[in-house]
Amino acid sequence: CGIVAYVGERTAYPIIIKGLQRLEYRGYDSAGIALVNGKINVYKCKGKVMDLEKLSQDKDISGSMGMGHTRWATHGEPSDTNAHPHKSMKGKFYVVHNGIIENYAHLRKELQNRGYKFTSETDTEILANLIENIYFEQKVSAELAVRLALTKVVGAYGLVIFCEDEPGTLIAARKGSPLVIGVGEKEYFLASDATPIVEYTDQVIYLNDEEVAVITREKLELKNLYNDSKTPDIKTIELSIENIDKGEYEHFMLKEIHEQPVTVQETFRGRVAMDESKIFLGGISDVMPKLLEAKRIVIVACGTSWHAGLVGEYLFEKYARIPVEVEYASEFRYRDPIIFDNDLIIAISQSGETADTLAAIRKVKDSRATILGICNVAGSSISRETHAGVYTHAGIEIGVASTKAFTSQITVLTMMALLLGHKKQILSTEEYQKLIHELTLVPDKIREVLAIEDQIEKIAATYKDASNALYMGRGALFPVALEGALKLKEISYIHAEGYPAAEMKHGPIALIDEKMPVFALALNDNNYEKMISNIQEVKARKGKVIAVVTKGDKAVKSMADHVIEIPEAHEAIAPMISIIPLQILAYHIALMRGCNVDQPRNLAKSVTVE
Ligand code: G6P
Repeated sequence: CGIVAYVGERTAYPIIIKGLQRLEYRGYDSAGIALVNGKINVYKCKGKVMDLEKLSQDKDISGSMGMGHTRWATHGEPSDTNAHPHKSMKGKFYVVHNGIIENYAHLRKELQNRGYKFTSETDTEILANLIENIYFEQKVSAELAVRLALTKVVGAYGLVIFCEDEPGTLIAARKGSPLVIGVGEKEYFLASDATPIVEYTDQVIYLNDEEVAVITREKLELKNLYNDSKTPDIKTIELSIENIDKGEYEHFMLKEIHEQPVTVQETFRGRVAMDESKIFLGGISDVMPKLLEAKRIVIVACGTSWHAGLVGEYLFEKYARIPVEVEYASEFRYRDPIIFDNDLIIAISQSGETADTLAAIRKVKDSRATILGICNVAGSSISRETHAGVYTHAGIEIGVASTKAFTSQITVLTMMALLLGHKKQILSTEEYQKLIHELTLVPDKIREVLAIEDQIEKIAATYKDASNALYMGRGALFPVALEGALKLKEISYIHAEGYPAAEMKHGPIALIDEKMPVFALALNDNNYEKMISNIQEVKARKGKVIAVVTKGDKAVKSMADHVIEIPEAHEAIAPMISIIPLQILAYHIALMRGCNVDQPRNLAKSVTVE
């Protein structure tokens, strides 16, 4: 979900609406706003921020303080009633909330015993009533009521609260779900991330867990839940407004696909020596002795980041000879994992806020293992809660389907694997330098793939009406098959699955008939001959084969229905090049099917709930 709030001297409404639009990638099934101007006006509805704007037409939208919310449903279906802000029963408190209150059932019961009734199915309304109940029963200030209520809450929250009796004061609190405060002249901006704020100021404060901010246009007071005062740490952010515009592109996803030559370069810029003789990763240099002792790497991640982790598995095993396990963070956190002192745990997360990934590293924080983060968002929770790490520097990613973050994550993993491999003397200096050189070729090779977008678009037109699709690959191209399938299913709603090519005959091959497109990653690597056999197995069952091949390929071309030729790529970098046509393909298929590419149904960019 996304939160935006404002207090200052300007009219709050346009600032909040624009901010919510910028945050829509975080959730977009309902939206709402509360504005204070003598009285408090609340407008909310199922649908997008655009629908909220329509609803607020001809209504009173005055006021220089307000808060807004764009929702990704957890408790209760998307509906007008379940949309935020939520009001407490007696009308004293208004709340917008991101996160999940885990003990909501217990709190709800307690409040019902005290006569409270609920109009929505959300955990947020319970919170509003809990605060109000404490406010009346204990006759305390609004701020204290908030703090007392939060000590009773189990779960995660990013919250903004108004109390009717204290117009002009915003109360914000965070645990688990991010909140950023923008500091202006006699004005403050609040949001789930900095994107709605950068237009107005580059001075920000990241709220920490269990911190509460009490904000008026004149001042900001920061404390923890137990009333210990805190000094705000004001940081200057580098995000600029151009980064968060679509520019010449029709969608953020397309823009981000096309940015990849530059973003991959940004990831290795300043880290690979100009003469390509070495790699320097400042973020992990302090822990290097520990990394060199690592007997095992455990990677934890979700979604696309998990796929990048699988590519990392090949890289670390091949070039640094360290055994790797790649875990779904959500599974890892609820098991009883065995962690050794000389384990290296790597959390991969674009947002750095994914609840399950964060919980996975918290699970091992008391062990003696070294914990690293590979995050895109600087200052994010995961980057702060790890011992060390490497930022991907891909720039803000807004399309819900991750593209440039993926290639940048793999770039970081490649640099790490090569660096460790060389330091451990597994890679000779010559091999090391050759591989570094290969890495520096990635941007140009991606450019070459982007140049054949028209061709890929034609193939997309042929398969746009498919109901199912299979993707297959071997070695480090198996995770690329998984990622290709994920891209297609998440934005076009075509059912798609990725498989290691040899596994096809253990089940998926039963699905193949003349209607089934099978996307095969068949580059001229060590697995080429085997892939040819797998492609033949598909053709023998009348499946349609669309193969990603190395430029100049003949054998696959003679048997496949379509081929997409990509430049010759060393196996270390092949995943980064071969995912590009699959991203483009998914984009065009989704577009042709009339899907909302940047905001696919039911999904959200930053999943801060488990
Ligand atoms: C969501 C996004 C995916 C992303 C995953 C993990 O599901 O829609 O694109 O891969 O979360 O997010 P993270 O920020 O941890 O990489």
